[in-house]
Amino acid sequence: MLTRRACLSLTAAGFAAGFASPAPAQEPSLSALAKAKGLNFGTALGTGKPFEDARYREIIIRECGMIVPENELKWYVLRPDDKTFAFGRADALAAFARGNGMILRGHTLLWHHPRWFPAWLNDYDFGSRPAAKAEAMLSQHIRHLCARYPQIQSWDVVNETINDKTGELRETSLSKAMGQGVLETSFHLAREAAPNAKLAYNDYMGWNASDAKHRDGVLRLLERLKKNGAPVDVLGIQSHLGVGQGDQVTGSGARQEREWRRFIDEAVGMGYDLSLTELDINDKALPADLPSRDRAVADEAKAFLDLMLSYPQTKEVLAWGMTDQYSWLQGTTPRPDNLPKRPSPYGADYQAKPLREAIAAALRAAPERTPWG
Ligand code: XIL
Repeated sequence: MLTRRACLSLTAAGFAAGFASPAPAQEPSLSALAKAKGLNFGTALGTGKPFEDARYREIIIRECGMIVPENELKWYVLRPDDKTFAFGRADALAAFARGNGMILRGHTLLWHHPRWFPAWLNDYDFGSRPAAKAEAMLSQHIRHLCARYPQIQSWDVVNETINDKTGELRETSLSKAMGQGVLETSFHLAREAAPNAKLAYNDYMGWNASDAKHRDGVLRLLERLKKNGAPVDVLGIQSHLGVGQGDQVTGSGARQEREWRRFIDEAVGMGYDLSLTELDINDKALPADLPSRDRAVADEAKAFLDLMLSYPQTKEVLAWGMTDQYSWLQGTTPRPDNLPKRPSPYGADYQAKPLREAIAAALRAAPERTPWG
């Protein structure tokens, strides 16, 4: 287990070995600023390189009150086949969170998207009673995960089941076997297995014009889940933002603030809390010049956070990684000039960037709210 002291002494060893001196700590931390307003702040963290990087861990320990495994709880990492659970990588992150007094968030019990199912699950033969077999497999999966990590206080139960182009529900091998009731069933199973956790439906609809169908589809799903009595507490808003023209991972087009507010109003009107689960800003379409690029990224985040934190229902903010070099966006569509992207609060040099200050400023300006108990 990596304790706080172990992490810091590893860092000290790194500096002794000739690295640059540590960046001055940004005080108060983002976690402290969030807590003062009844919020939790954290980041995604993946095993492998990011987790082995002592300087990176030090930033996370200093700034974050919560981590979420970036990939380690997903079926395609955890489930090499229908019988096995490969908990090793997730266990390492859980131990890191515990050792540093951090909350662990859960992502995700069912990424209901065939692209992100393991191949064996896409091709699975559910036999002569497919509904029963599929439900048994789902139930075993959800029970096992929730039992292994009882410290998880909020779970993305279902992730990305709305097709962003059509607004319709996606089909997977599980929904083919047991019908679209797979969604309600997942929430019921999660409630039973993790009775004290907040349960979220999580998706990447955003505030751009091109997201209109996606937003409509998500609202229809939220209405349906409510009507059917599924225990869903939270709408998880991934918050993968983008600036410039046609620069989104998740779509493109002009920002639609009024429509976005209407979307959020409808969700909170149905009684859902909000969590900003995967914040980053894709700078793919911005000019190369660093100061203006970093400024535009920070301004986009500030505008979004100001709006979202004005809702007292928003209880969590998570960055999808704290430093640029480990961001998943480095591996998605490249910038035309092939320069590294700058989507995160800290740079590859471990120095805080304007985005870090924008998050801090938004937290400082946020109204206080009642924290999750
Ligand atoms: C991404 C990870 O960051 C990548 O490392 C992985 O290759 C693919 O998944 N929406 C989600 C997250 O819900 O799980 C995704 O994470 C990013 C988009």
